[in-house]
Order: sequence, then structure tokens, then C-alpha cells
Amino acid sequence: MNSFRDNSQNKKIVIAVDGFSSGGKSTFARLLAARLGYIFIDTGAMYRAVTLYGIEHGAIRNGVPDRERLVGMLGEIDITFRFNPARQASDIYVRGECVEEKIRGIEVSAAVSSVSSIPEVRRKLVAMQQQMGKDKGVVMDGRDIGTVVFPDAELKLFMTADPGVRARRRYEELRARGEDVSLEEIERNIRERDRADQEREVSPLRKAADAVVLDNSGMTLAQQMEWIEPILAERLGKA
Ligand code: DC
Repeated sequence: MNSFRDNSQNKKIVIAVDGFSSGGKSTFARLLAARLGYIFIDTGAMYRAVTLYGIEHGAIRNGVPDRERLVGMLGEIDITFRFNPARQASDIYVRGECVEEKIRGIEVSAAVSSVSSIPEVRRKLVAMQQQMGKDKGVVMDGRDIGTVVFPDAELKLFMTADPGVRARRRYEELRARGEDVSLEEIERNIRERDRADQEREVSPLRKAADAVVLDNSGMTLAQQMEWIEPILAERLGKA
């Protein structure tokens, strides 16, 4: 398992993981990062953090952002990541407060698509992401990583799964956290986000021409890791 990590001959690369919401991107990307000893960056968490801040500071009401107000707040949001050894992953902080839990709720989920379609928000977060990945050795998960943030990434993955499968996964996740949601509501939210992600004008979700597709509908995490091995060997060999 540690052959790549222990091999100092290997140059570090950038791995972009893009795809639809609740498609298991984060879980897979986190494990991949651990596998290589790379940093994992969940860019969706950054759009969620901006959304949460907007909700808590009156710039988003009933799921609708007051664009000018929210853009005016961008300078004060101050997003940072801190490694949490218990999770073996980084937690996201806004102005020093850990918001890892809060950003996963349904209220943020319902408003985040509108927030992520604001060009000024994207410009700011993309610049932060490019800065975080400039020394390579990162696995970054999002929607536009292979197309906009790191168009030269050495490895680009595009993850997809059946919407019904994704809705079921998300439903179980939220129920486990005690949220009172219905499967129908989740599936509606997922389909709506798929549509919004693909149809928005700025950086719509699309597969980069050179991305490798992983449809994980019927695959376990272990099977996905097995699937990626030869691709990793090839890309790391080239780097
Ligand atoms: O991956 P996620 O569900 O946590 O992402 C939350 C929202 O943020 C989703 O609606 C799409 C948006 N997003 C984006 O526009 N660009 C990214 N790089 C990551 C997420």
C-alpha cells in the first residue's frame, strides 16, 4: 500500500477529482490523498463556508443571496483548514471557528448552488485553491478543478453515479446525523444541484476532455481504490 508514498523518486502531482454532488468524491479523494501522503482539499466545503457565513450574517434569506451584500463580505470571511488527526483530514474554519458540521446541513445545501454561481465568489475561492495547490502533492475535489483551477493537473478524474444511488447515500448520511429529511427531498435537492451545476454560466460542471471517468454506482471504496492503482502507477511514472 505504501509503495508510492515511500518512493522519494516520485515527483508530486496534482490530482483533480470532479463530478456530481454526493457521488462519493470526498471519501474517495480523501483516501487517495492518504494513500499518497498528499494533502486533500474539499473545495465544496469552501463554497459551503461562504454560504453559511452569508446565512449567519443576513446576506442570504430564504435561500436567496443578496449578491452585493455577500460579495461585500468576501474580504472578512477568512477561510482556513486545520488538520484533524481524529478524522485524518482537515476541518474547515471560518474566522477561527470550526464549521465542518454546520456546513453540511440542509439549509446550506439548499443555498450553495446560487452562491457558487456568483463570479466574484468563484474568483476568490479559485485563487485560494490555486495557492493551496501550487507546490503539488494535492488531491482536490470539486466541480471545476480539472477545467479551471488546475487545467494542467497530471491526473483528472470525473466521478459519476446514478442519482438514485447518490440520494440514498446522502439520505443515510443525514439521518445518521439526526436530520429529519425524506429521501424524496434529498433526491430532489440532488437533481436540482446537478442541473444548477451543469447549467450555470460561470465554470459549469463538465468533464475535462482529458479526464478519466469513474462511475462508482455499484462499486465499493476498495474496488475504486483497486481501479485507480494502474492509472496512478502510470501518471506517477510519467511525472
Ligand atoms: O461538493 P459539495 O456538494 O460539497 O459542493 C457544494 C456546492 O458547491 C455544489 O452545489 C457545487 C459547488 N461547487 C462548485 O461550484 N465548485 C467547486 N469547485 C466545488 C463545489
